[in-house]
Amino acid sequence: MDMISDFDLTGSNTMGLKSFARRAVIVDDPTILPALARESAASGLPLYFLGGGSNVVLRERLEAIVALMRIGGRKVARQTDTHSIVTAGAGENWHDFVAWTIAEDMPGLENLAGIPGTVGAAPIQNIGAYGAQLSDFFLSLEAYDLQGGVVRTFDAQDCRFGYRQSHFKTEPGRHVILSVTLALPRAWRPKRDYAGLDQLPEQISAREVLDHVVALRASKLPDWRVLGNAGSFFHNPVVSAEKAAEIAGAPRYPQPDGTMKLSAGWLIEQCGLKGFRLGPAGTYDRHALVLVNHGGATRTDIAALAAHIREKVRDRFDVELVQEPIEL
Ligand code: EPU
Repeated sequence: MDMISDFDLTGSNTMGLKSFARRAVIVDDPTILPALARESAASGLPLYFLGGGSNVVLRERLEAIVALMRIGGRKVARQTDTHSIVTAGAGENWHDFVAWTIAEDMPGLENLAGIPGTVGAAPIQNIGAYGAQLSDFFLSLEAYDLQGGVVRTFDAQDCRFGYRQSHFKTEPGRHVILSVTLALPRAWRPKRDYAGLDQLPEQISAREVLDHVVALRASKLPDWRVLGNAGSFFHNPVVSAEKAAEIAGAPRYPQPDGTMKLSAGWLIEQCGLKGFRLGPAGTYDRHALVLVNHGGATRTDIAALAAHIREKVRDRFDVELVQEPIEL
């Protein structure tokens, strides 16, 4: 096992936060995982897995073994009468995988195009965009249980998916996702019932929807290669219908259980914090929910900005914002 000491993770997280790992290792084969777990126990260093690093806030110094997940591979596992069943390795780039399914004439994932990160990270926060989420297509995944030392298969029920939520967030670090299997229905219609897609013609190909989604994202969200960011930094808060009615003018989205989802971006903008800067950290000037690194920011800078935003939103609206990216 090739361990690298004092590994610079600045280029391995999309926020571009300055961060070093005490030790790092590339995982491109699941058979090294038992030895890696033993190494973690023997050294007393916790083991953290990183995919695309697109939903994490990294400390400046990680006293840990950071495993960079690179297990690749994608295939059509089988065709049923109704679905194409596709499997991809955890280290595959999510957008490339989506583009491949569409090039192979298996539409369905186009609304989820352009989301940064890896296939293996997708179930952890049940990625979603433009009216679709991973759980709509999810069939199963394989994960290595670091405690039990066995590979386990999880079906959708085991994963307990919710809005940006899954079982894997409640037991962080225990399971290493190795591969994900999705079921893409053969009967396909474009999903256009979402702001920004509702003007698309009914006769449109999945490839055209994909291109439109990518362009839409580019018009709203900064490219992390240019301006470090981790997408939405807070969940959209879900509040009671009464509470939502108190906030005049707020966009609100009714939930099946009678509660209302509000837009965190709107709440932050109302506090005058769109395009706001605090040191090298700031909110994006075209979308207040995205925290950006203007250059050289650390976790401390991001934490100070996030605390400021939460306080302003709490004072003005009495709404508690919950951070989306995971702290490592
Ligand atoms: N808004 C503002 N000001 C802002 C930003 C947004 O008023 O600065 C308003 C918009 O005008 C709109 C509403 O807030 O009325 C919602 O904004 P948007 O459509 O941009 O979506 P969002 O709720 O901010 C969510 C996801 C995104 C996903 C988009 C599109 C969450 C936390 N975020 O953002 O996911 O791409 O919808 O489906 O659910 C991510 O999770 O990292 C992510 C980027």
